[in-house]
Amino acid sequence: MPVILGIESSCDETSASVCVDGVIMSNVIANQTIHEAYGGVVPELASRVHQQNIVPAVQQALLNAKVSKNDIDAVAFTRGPGLLGSLLVGVSFAKAFALAKGIPLIDINHMQAHILAHFIGDKNPSFPFLCLTVSGGHTQIVLVKDYFDMEIIGQTLDDAAGEAMDKTSKILGLPYPGGPLIDKYARQGNPDAYKFPEPQIPGYDFSFSGLKTSILYFIRDNVAQNPDFVNQNMADICASVEKRIATILLNKLQKAAQAYDIKDIALAGGVSANTGLRLGLQAMAEQNGWNSFIPKMEYCTDNAAMIAIAGYHKFLKGEFVGQDVAPMARMAFAPQPPKGGAMVE
Ligand code: KG4
Ligand code: ZN
Repeated sequence: MPVILGIESSCDETSASVCVDGVIMSNVIANQTIHEAYGGVVPELASRVHQQNIVPAVQQALLNAKVSKNDIDAVAFTRGPGLLGSLLVGVSFAKAFALAKGIPLIDINHMQAHILAHFIGDKNPSFPFLCLTVSGGHTQIVLVKDYFDMEIIGQTLDDAAGEAMDKTSKILGLPYPGGPLIDKYARQGNPDAYKFPEPQIPGYDFSFSGLKTSILYFIRDNVAQNPDFVNQNMADICASVEKRIATILLNKLQKAAQAYDIKDIALAGGVSANTGLRLGLQAMAEQNGWNSFIPKMEYCTDNAAMIAIAGYHKFLKGEFVGQDVAPMARMAFAPQPPKGGAMVE
């Protein structure tokens, strides 16, 4: 019955989770509201808040799971990718905890963990499956052959899908993070009110920078005619932008599913919380006879439960790292050297 403590601190959520024999017993997430005033995550402030939150988050996670520090068999932590100062807080905490308790350390790739969140609970995809991983910093179509055997078959050439959401909301004058607000307004709007272009990118890759520019010009031109254009049409603009982002993502996913002849299709990452994308995948799955896997809301955005479950599967394989492990701002899927590692790429 391995008991794994999971730690996540790659961006602006400080999270701790306890996983007992593959079952998530707690998932405490401390959000950072400080960044709202700045329109985006300020790395230095994020590190400081992680430093304040990490111990209380772990204590609460242990309490909620009804386990003591002495019950923990291994500590899994996000090694990368992410903000280096933020990662350092989680990595340093994990190292200190493991050293104090004499237990192994398990390094986890944050993007792989988003995918492995699908192994929380009973309804799991079968290997090989395809996962569309969409977050604030990444947009990937991943061929998942096994827990830690994953191949990125398509990715964004510029902005990530979440970045497109957040930049659009900034253009519309909405606070950070904009994705959830676009989702909220879109529910009351007409998704066909405005047409934004679908980029023509070969293969399974994506590009969102052209869409961002076209939204910027569209708003600029309309505001020149009517200064109140955005306020009067917020719901229709958000619904139309959301629809375009979702169709760009889903059309590529469908192309990949057909080419690889795969029927188990999953969604992961912060943008998988988006209502339009979730409904769009469900509709596409029905049309194509896919089994679709959409994470529970609490496992879409950053959380330590996904780190703990990934840690559990690495624990079963006996894959541990030493005390000289270092965080990585950028990190590939391939197994990382067990010792050391560059601080930056
Ligand atoms: O995975 P995540 O929590 O953090 C990263 O690893 O980046 O993803 C955060 C991204 C942000 O861009 C945020 O705006 C977006 O996910 N997001 C959403 C929604 N909830 C979060 N985008 C659209 N609709 C949502 N409901
Ligand atoms: Zn994430």
